[in-house]
Amino acid sequence: MTTTTGLPAVSLPPYFAYHGQHLLVEGVPLQRLAREHGTPLFVYSKAAMLSALTAYQRGLAGRKHLICYAMKANSSLAILQTLVRAGCGLDIVSGGELERAMAAGAEPSRVIFSGVGKTRTEMRQALKLGIGCFNVESRAELDVLDAVAREMGLRAPVSVRVNPNVDAQTHPYISTGLKGNKFGIAHEDVLDTYRHAAGCAGLRVVGIDCHIGSQITQAAPYLDAMDRVLDLVESIEAAGIAIEHIDFGGGLGIDYQGDAPPQADQLWKQLLAKLDARGFGNRTIMIEPGRSLVGNAGACVTEVLYRKPGEHKNFLIVDAAMNDLPRPALYEAFHRIVPLVQADGDAPSTTWDVVGPVCESGDWIGRDRALAVQAGDLLAVLSAGAYCMSMASNYNTRGRAAEVLVDGDKAWLIRSRESAADQFRLERPLPAV
Ligand code: LLP
Repeated sequence: MTTTTGLPAVSLPPYFAYHGQHLLVEGVPLQRLAREHGTPLFVYSKAAMLSALTAYQRGLAGRKHLICYAMKANSSLAILQTLVRAGCGLDIVSGGELERAMAAGAEPSRVIFSGVGKTRTEMRQALKLGIGCFNVESRAELDVLDAVAREMGLRAPVSVRVNPNVDAQTHPYISTGLKGNKFGIAHEDVLDTYRHAAGCAGLRVVGIDCHIGSQITQAAPYLDAMDRVLDLVESIEAAGIAIEHIDFGGGLGIDYQGDAPPQADQLWKQLLAKLDARGFGNRTIMIEPGRSLVGNAGACVTEVLYRKPGEHKNFLIVDAAMNDLPRPALYEAFHRIVPLVQADGDAPSTTWDVVGPVCESGDWIGRDRALAVQAGDLLAVLSAGAYCMSMASNYNTRGRAAEVLVDGDKAWLIRSRESAADQFRLERPLPAV
């Protein structure tokens, strides 16, 4: 399986580049960070995040809007601080995320609460803080929220999540706007739900929302969803219920493997044209982008532990695993994998399956990758800023990786590596026998 044709040219996300043979994030060589902090190590570019955010801000400039970063994509405090300080609100889905949002300095009124299963405790916690909006996903949830708010002598600001029955044309596990999904309220039941909400003393209708899926690479599903939502706004308002804001969710994809999603500003140019044409151009627009703000800002640096050539497959065993990078195991997702120090152009490359140390065949990070590497070499798994660290686990009692944020030629450790003691801190051993 060894070839001598040299290595294919790699395409790198913005703010990642080879200088000579060394891979840099902004002005910082990744190899230096790996030596300093060990591996596996997540490294993020602040400039990459801010430039992704700027594309949305440019697209929505001149409009009343709020960009609520969907923090499930990456909820590390320093990442939240970076985006909050740059003007983002936050989209949360749990009481834990609410606490993180507050710890990162978010203004509660700029936080919206999504998710199908909010508990009473979470509702109380959010109401007490003065959350901006609850994006409600069922009639049952609406009734519980009404009761909780009345008990507290408050009115909960609500938006109903519409399931527009639009195919986002993405992986089935991350498609959320189809009838068969657990998310949102079916289009045909939305008007009744608003009538009901408008009559609840504990609720105050403020908006409408939808989110059709993730890693969406075309504009068409957004345009279709917008039409469906605007049809509903027309009928809800005809029933005398005012809708202050319209929330179009998140979902815009990134380039993992040559994917070419529209740029955020280009997408919004098209969406605003529709909004204007239908006479809703002056409404407050909310969005909930996650992946598109942070996904291509991050990489996971990992060390090659062993080369294990075989008859059918060559395995490259690295020190990052499915507990750090769960997307390949979960969605067969593709992440580019590149060396931190580029081999000479004529170095022989071999085709490897890049796998982790976890005891599962599902623990793979990349398949059939041409790489010229030795044990001890360092690799970067790219596009790892979203849904990696935030989905990391302790499977096999592996500590979660450390994280570093790069800003120009400076680098900050934003999370220390988790030790085994950190992991069993909350466990209670049995008494001695
Ligand atoms: N709003 C709501 C209500 C959501 O459920 C999500 C993501 C977002 C916004 C943000 O979507 P984004 O802009 O990041 O696409 N773990 C999967 C992705 C799950 C997405 C869940 N919901 C992955 O690694 O691909």
